[in-house]
Parts: sequence; structure tokens; C-alpha cells
Amino acid sequence: MKIVVIGGSSLIGTKVVNRLREHGHEVVAASPASGVNTLTGEGLTEALAGAEIVVDLANSPSFEDAAVMEFFETAGRNLMAAETAAGVRHHLALSVVGADRLPASGYLRAKLAQERLIEESGVPYTIIRSTQFFEFVNGIVNAAADGDVVRLSPALLQPIAADDIAASVADFALGKPLNTIVEVAGPEAHPLDKIARKFLAAKGDRRQVVADIHARYFGAELNDQSLTPGDRPRLGTVRFDDWLTASRAGAPR
Ligand SMILES: NC(=O)c1ccc[n+]([C@@H]2O[C@H](COP(=O)([O-])OP(=O)(O)OC[C@H]3O[C@@H](n4cnc5c(N)ncnc54)[C@H](OP(=O)(O)O)[C@@H]3O)[C@@H](O)[C@H]2O)c1
Repeated sequence: MKIVVIGGSSLIGTKVVNRLREHGHEVVAASPASGVNTLTGEGLTEALAGAEIVVDLANSPSFEDAAVMEFFETAGRNLMAAETAAGVRHHLALSVVGADRLPASGYLRAKLAQERLIEESGVPYTIIRSTQFFEFVNGIVNAAADGDVVRLSPALLQPIAADDIAASVADFALGKPLNTIVEVAGPEAHPLDKIARKFLAAKGDRRQVVADIHARYFGAELNDQSLTPGDRPRLGTVRFDDWLTASRAGAPR
């Protein structure tokens, strides 16, 4: 089968491309770096010719409210139109657990808009809502930092390793389109401020993490249900502590 991975150059994308190739499929890693741009439409028709499955792992270069909405709406419209024209049989996209629960977050409003475009496109689909990647904890800390102080909510987070999410993406992509949303999460939930403290300690970063129930996560206040999955998520196996230890030993997972 020909499979196109949009955002195939990203951390998750690279792992998904390798996994799908190991199954013997013809996999195109598509992104602006290889001349395929979902925002402008450049290279889309050529990349999708003969494709049966499209996996969308692209992300907006800017998280500013208007820019991220523009990215997911325009890219979503261009991509779904190109897939319809190419007769794609399964579209899989990676969204975020809680995308429907945090309308105060411009980023999550944009992810919800992306999901709606997929649901209304007529292309058979599976939407995976994932929790935050371990590798994104660095980004969460930096977004919340003000000088040496990092103010974060103590609400629960259930992050997942890039390897675990890549395995789920590859499995669901090769399965039948479910035409619904599934959730994938890491094996354990911990308060976000504790996760950040552990992460900084492991990196020898002396910034101080302050727990604040009103601290905003990309624009939204959190509670323990905001970013954690519902009843029956598919769970990853790698624990955050083990990933940190492996990262410290110079072998990031
Ligand atoms: N980070 C998390 O914790 C998390 C959690 C849940 C879900 N997700 C979702 O997972 C997906 C990937 O996120 P990420 O953080 O792994 O992304 P990332 O590392 O920032 O990678 C972004 C990818 O998008 C591609 N891209 C950017 N602009 C594009 C365009 N105009 N057309 C096509 N491709 C474009 C990039 O290609 P180039 O390299 O060529 O620029 C790159 O491959 C996103 O949809 C995100 O919402 C992320």
C-alpha cells in the first residue's frame, strides 16, 4: 500500500514512517522540507496520487491563537479536498485528549476545528486524541517560564512516550477506519507541577516550579479531568521516570 505521512519529518512522524516501512509499505514522508505544504497546497496532488492511507502529523509553526486556527483550518480543507480527489480510503489524524474540554485554549480550539473538517469530509477516518508527549514537557515548561520561575497547575497530566504514540498511530493507520475518536495515553497520571520539577531536576535546570491552580496551560485553567483520558484509552507502556533515566543516560527513547 502507498501511505503518505504528512509531517513525516517530525519526531513522531519519523518513527511512524519507519514502523510503516517495516511492514513493507511504500511510505512517503511529506512536509514542506520535501516540497509538500498543506497550507499552500504545494505538492499535495502529486504526493497523494495512488495513496490509500494518509496520516496527518503536521503541526502549526506558530501557537498564536489566530495563526494556529488559520493553520489547522486551511491545511485541513486543502488536505481533505486533495484526499477526496485522490480516493484515499483512510485518513488518520493526531489530536489532543481534552480538545473538546478547553475552549479557552486557542490551540485546542484549532484542533477541534481540524477534527470537525475531518468528520465532515466524507473520507473514512480515525482520529487519535493523544495526551502530551514526554518530549513536549520541555515546551510546556518553557511556555510557562517567567525568568527563573515556572508557574504550573498541579492538575493531573498523563503523558506518553513518542515511541508509544508512534506505535499506536501505525497500528490504527493499518486498521480499518473507525470513523470515530479514540484516546491514547501514557501509563500513569501525575500532577503537572511534579512532572516539570522531575524533568528540570533530571536536566540540572535550576528554575523553580511553583504550583498554582490558576496557572494557565496554553490559555486555559486546568482541573484533573481537563487533560486526562476517559474510561478506555489505549495505554502506552513506557513510564515517565524510566524515560527520564534513559534520557539522562544519553539514550532518549
Ligand atoms: N506535542 C504533543 O505533546 C502533542 C500531543 C497530542 C497531539 N499532538 C499533535 O501531534 C501532531 C504533531 O505534533 P508535534 O509536536 O510532534 O509536531 P512537530 O514536532 O512540531 O512537527 C511538525 C511537523 O509538521 C510539519 N509541517 C509544518 N508546517 C507544515 C505544512 N504547512 N504542511 C505540511 N507539514 C507541515 C513539519 O514539517 P517540516 O519539518 O518540513 O517543517 C513537521 O514535520 C500535531 O498535530 C499535534 O497537535 C501533539
